Amino acid sequence: MFSKTERADTVDRPPSPDAEKGAPVAVLSGARLSYPGIGDGGPEANGAEVDVLRGIDMEIGAGEIVAATGPSGSGKSSLIAVIGGLERPTGGEVKVLDIDLTTAGEAARTDLRRRNIGIVFQSFHLVPAMSALQNASLPLMLAGNFEAESEAAKMLARVGLSHRLNHRPSALSGGEQQRVAIARAFAAEPRLVLADEPTGNLDQATGDEVVGVMFDLVRETGASMLLVTHDESLAARCDRTIAIDNGKVRDTVGS
Ligand SMILES: Nc1ncnc2c1ncn2[C@@H]1O[C@H](COP(=O)(O)OP(=O)(O)OP(=O)(O)O)[C@@H](O)[C@H]1O
Ligand SMILES: [Mg+2]
Repeated sequence: MFSKTERADTVDRPPSPDAEKGAPVAVLSGARLSYPGIGDGGPEANGAEVDVLRGIDMEIGAGEIVAATGPSGSGKSSLIAVIGGLERPTGGEVKVLDIDLTTAGEAARTDLRRRNIGIVFQSFHLVPAMSALQNASLPLMLAGNFEAESEAAKMLARVGLSHRLNHRPSALSGGEQQRVAIARAFAAEPRLVLADEPTGNLDQATGDEVVGVMFDLVRETGASMLLVTHDESLAARCDRTIAIDNGKVRDTVGS
């Protein structure tokens, strides 16, 4: 399924992060996200806005794997939500695959997500009533792909789950559930994968295996990835690490 002609230039590419590989997939410049205060602003209410992202400058290059680390509450999941088009930035500029997410409407953000972004969450976020195959097929079905199930089945085989196609999430181990989520995230061949602590609910060995699968898929498909993690050994496997602190990029380690 990775033999599409438009991907032919990326499949055999060496994994060096240094080579110039074309335009970055995401560019953030002074990106801000504020949530409205809770309540109606009356004397009992906490009406002040919460500034969660306070001017983020960063890029994710084509084919690059970037780790994001930082303390709890520093804004890592909010950063994923903004880059993934789940939350609209309230200031600055966020461009993902040349779509300006500061001005894009809901429909344009949904379209970007469906076509070009895969998201993997800490707690898997699978649909409980659906089998592994149905879960992994979902993005392809939403994209109107008539081969959705057979392509999803190939993807599940790729992540080592061909013997679990008809199992529901409750009948799968945590590591298996995350593999289904990874198959789902990669099924539509996204250009950018966003992973928010994908190993957070897994033991070290299972987490390492699951991340190994993600790294392999990123390299094979030429996708880029932003990987939020608390695990320093995992961050060290990425091309570059950005440290988020209190809604800003504190520093960058790596090339
Ligand atoms: N919907 C919301 N409304 C108001 N504040 C929010 C909302 N979502 C997140 N926040 C606040 O934004 C800040 C950043 O949250 P975020 O979830 O991005 O942090 P994080 O770095 O992912 O933390 P963790 O490592 O615990 O997952 C926190 O102070 C949080 O309380
Ligand atoms: Mg988080």
